[in-house]
Formats: sequence, structure tokens, C-alpha cells
Amino acid sequence: MHTQLFPGIDWVGFVDWNIRDFHSYNTERGATYNSYLIRDEKTVLIDAVKKAAADTLLANVRELTDLEKVDYIVCNHAEQDHAGAMGQVVAMMPNAEVVCTAKCKEILSGYTDTTGWKFKIVANGETLSIGENTLTFIHTPMVHWPDSMFTYVAEKKLLFSMDGFGQHVASSQRFDDEMPLDVLMEEAKIYYANIVYPYGAQVARVLEAAAGLEIAMIAPSHGLIWRKNIPTILEAYKRWSAKKSENKVVIFYDTMWESTEIMAKAIYEGVMSVPGVVCEMHHVRKSTLTELSTSAMDARCCAMGSATLNTLPTPTSAAVMTYMQGLRFPIRYGLSFGSFGWGKGAVEEISAWFEKMQWTEVVPGVKTKWRPDADVLQKCREAGKLLAEKALED
Ligand code: FEO
Repeated sequence: MHTQLFPGIDWVGFVDWNIRDFHSYNTERGATYNSYLIRDEKTVLIDAVKKAAADTLLANVRELTDLEKVDYIVCNHAEQDHAGAMGQVVAMMPNAEVVCTAKCKEILSGYTDTTGWKFKIVANGETLSIGENTLTFIHTPMVHWPDSMFTYVAEKKLLFSMDGFGQHVASSQRFDDEMPLDVLMEEAKIYYANIVYPYGAQVARVLEAAAGLEIAMIAPSHGLIWRKNIPTILEAYKRWSAKKSENKVVIFYDTMWESTEIMAKAIYEGVMSVPGVVCEMHHVRKSTLTELSTSAMDARCCAMGSATLNTLPTPTSAAVMTYMQGLRFPIRYGLSFGSFGWGKGAVEEISAWFEKMQWTEVVPGVKTKWRPDADVLQKCREAGKLLAEKALED
């Protein structure tokens, strides 16, 4: 199966309809691993797919050319969703050189036995003429791995952007104008929050470099190809990479016998007493880490609550904190809260986590033994109001 981008340039990737767990990222709409084939005087495969999809990729390429005719395999990124199939692909394309960064070669060789592979290591800005078209390699370190690069085809104003501008969406459509834009942008935001967010400074540098290119099409390695809404996705990346928070409070909590949930609802009441603040509240065991992180990405304040289980926050609360710690969202203020029975612990642990995150607690953690009484609930409302007022501070 293949789809034409331009005469001589086709999508030959794999649609992963059933994947729902992409190393903990919940891919509710599935995913694709996009590979592309350029048939010019030289024949070039741009990126591979995950190992299990190697046969599909090879069959898609065979529909268009003999595998022996492939001269180059460009590997923009060694992560295994794109390079897991490289072993099989290189073996079946014996005349091809693998074109990549030095770091990519190192990582490929860490995953796969690359003995006998012909590598062509390319520098940033290096070009490769393949006939009518010229490939330019643009190093994009830490967007989102150290090996990453984009490949640009000036003659077509076409940018192969690897993970950049990607979305996890399995579909029969290949182009952005064939799917509702709100769906695509929602998935692009989820992707950015969960994969790209920590690397905002590096993304900003890439966007600066891309500003000097004429771009008529962006072909990422996941999801739909951008040809109509390029300004929309570029503007979104510019906004997201600036790591600017909004007038938003997120309330995350886990509860055992509803006490912490009752407190969360009182905090919500306090937040909502302040006009102009957006609030999203999640029971962390009823949302995925993927949803929670996307909700927190542009929040300025976070209330984190948990029941105490064996002197600690619940395991799901701990997972949320670990995940958010890695993503480094620009939250500035926190509020810890929760319930305990005979042994305290959860709220203290959450406060210690705030300190590690360098988020300022608006008040000392709010705790209750067993059920929250009227005084505790009043404290929750007041703390929620304070948090909301902080959310209005730009
Ligand atoms: Fe889609 Fe970083 O791999």
C-alpha cells in the first residue's frame, strides 16, 4: 500500500490500528509509522518502521521498486518505532547506504548488530543530490533524542520532520485536509505534551532554522502529513515551545474512601469562586497519565491530593508525580492535600515533591483524619481560592 505525496515520492509506512500503549503513552486513536520512498535517479527510503511491521514496509516498497534498487536509507532517528525494522530492511536492500548522524549510527549499533552496514554519516546542513531532487540534512538534537535530524527536499519544499509535528492517529487518510483539524490538533498537543515538551528550547531552535525554509509540506513520521494547515501547526509549536502557562489550575487526586475526593471538590469550589480561571479536575485512577499530562501542560497551578496508603501516597499518585517530574511543565504554585487514618504520610510526600519541582505551596498541606469536617472543607475552599488567585498572576 502506498500514497503519493508528489510524483516519485510516496508514503510506504505502516498503520498500527490496535496499539493503545506506546511505552505508557495511551494511543487511543492508534498510531502510524511513516516511511517514504523517493524514486529519482537515486532511490531513497526515508525512515523505517517498528520491527513487527518490517514485512509491511518491504511489501509497500516492492509495489514501487525492486529492493535492490534502493541506494540510500535515510535514518532520521534511531528510536525503535522507526528503526526497529532496520535490521530486516538493510538485509533486504543490499545496495543501500544508511544515511544518518554520527549519534544515530552509535544508537543504531547499540540496538542492532550493524556489522557490514554501509554508513554515510552526514553533517548538519550537508546535501546529497539524488537527481532532480537534493536532500538537505538538518540536525535537530534533542528533538527529541540526541541523534535526531530532519531531511528537507528543497525542490518540493518538503520537510521530513521525523517525530516533530507528529500525532498518534491511525487512519486511512494521509493528509491533514482529509481529517477534522480539531482532532489533529488535539492529537498534536497530546503528542507534544508527552513526547516533546521537555525540549522546548531545542524545538525553538529548530523552528528558527525552519523559518528560513520554504515549506509546502511537512511529512512527519507519525500521523497525518501537513499540507494545508502548516501555519497552524507551526504556530502551535511556537506557542508550546515557549513553555508559557495559562490562567489554569489542575486538581489531581486519588481517593480510597472518598475523603480526599470530598476535599478535591471543596478546592474546586474555591478555585471557581475566582472569575477568569480555568480548572480541570481529575481522579487520577480514572484518567490516563497521557490525559493528565496534557491537562497539566499549560497549567500555572496544581493541587495534588492523595489518601495515605501505608504511610505514602497511593501508587497511582506516585506514578503521576514521577511522570510529571520528567515532563517539567511550567507550573509555579502547588497545593497538597489528602486524608489519613492512623499514620500520616501522603501530604508530606506531596509537599516534598513540590519542593523538588520548585513549585511554591500556597499554604501548608491541608490534611484530614478520616472524613474532612466543616473546618477542613473551609480550609480547602480558601486554599483553592488562593491557588486560583495565583493562577491569574502572569
Ligand atoms: Fe517516534 Fe522518537 O520515535
